[in-house]
Amino acid sequence: MLEPLNDEHLSFYVRQITRAQEEERLRIARDLHDSTIQSLVAISHDLERFLAETGQCDMPTVRFLLKLDDQIKTVLKEVRNFSQNLRPSIIDHLGLLPSIEYLVAELRKKYQIAGTICIIGNPCRFQPEVEINLFRIAQEALQNIVRHSHATTAKVLMEFASEKISITIVDDGIGMPDLPQSSTGFLKQGKLGLAGMAERVRLLQGSIRMTSEAGKGTTITIILNKAGHVV
Ligand SMILES: Nc1ncnc2c1ncn2[C@@H]1O[C@H](COP(=O)(O)OP(=O)(O)OP(=O)(O)O)[C@@H](O)[C@H]1O
Ligand SMILES: [Mg+2]
Repeated sequence: MLEPLNDEHLSFYVRQITRAQEEERLRIARDLHDSTIQSLVAISHDLERFLAETGQCDMPTVRFLLKLDDQIKTVLKEVRNFSQNLRPSIIDHLGLLPSIEYLVAELRKKYQIAGTICIIGNPCRFQPEVEINLFRIAQEALQNIVRHSHATTAKVLMEFASEKISITIVDDGIGMPDLPQSSTGFLKQGKLGLAGMAERVRLLQGSIRMTSEAGKGTTITIILNKAGHVV
């Protein structure tokens, strides 16, 4: 008979899924970039060359082909956005800090939430796996603010101390009553985003604390030792 899943099994399982999900996202983003996006660009170029070189088409046909080209460009933009969200290239090229600044700027531009970021200390770069995990944690927390909090302001505080880094994300939204403090607690309540955040922090051997009160917003703090993580 199969053993029932205990908390340790559950969290091992979530950790494995978190890793596999990141690898899968990277693979899909690369495939989209290397094949789908390149094919769409090639089709659009062919169409433009055909329109420029042929003098034989009647106006309705030309109009139809121009419309088709527009549609291909719209799909291209959508696929680029999709691929960008799967694995933001900014994280690979510029690193954690600009990527989080970018997420905060999006809060202001796209969602009219007054997002601010405050950096204390000397920013440093972390190992790629550490940066992507910290980025995903911040991304999930900020996405939750957009989707669930009804907040008007969101603040990100990143503090680079000599041995530790801490990231605090605060919103002034509706809050979450009865918030569990462990990933298995989140899992049992079906809160997979919060469980994923907690497991990513565990993967990095850091700590996470979430405090929230109904009507008084939510604060999430992640603390990580720099040792072994900094490049
Ligand atoms: N900042 C927040 N303010 C208020 N409620 C929140 C906040 N963050 C999360 N919640 C509540 O906690 C629930 C669980 O969040 P979680 O991120 O685990 O799942 P989700 O966002 O609903 O789905 P997903 O799996 O796509 O992340 C949300 O549905 C929401 O009710
Ligand atoms: Mg979520």
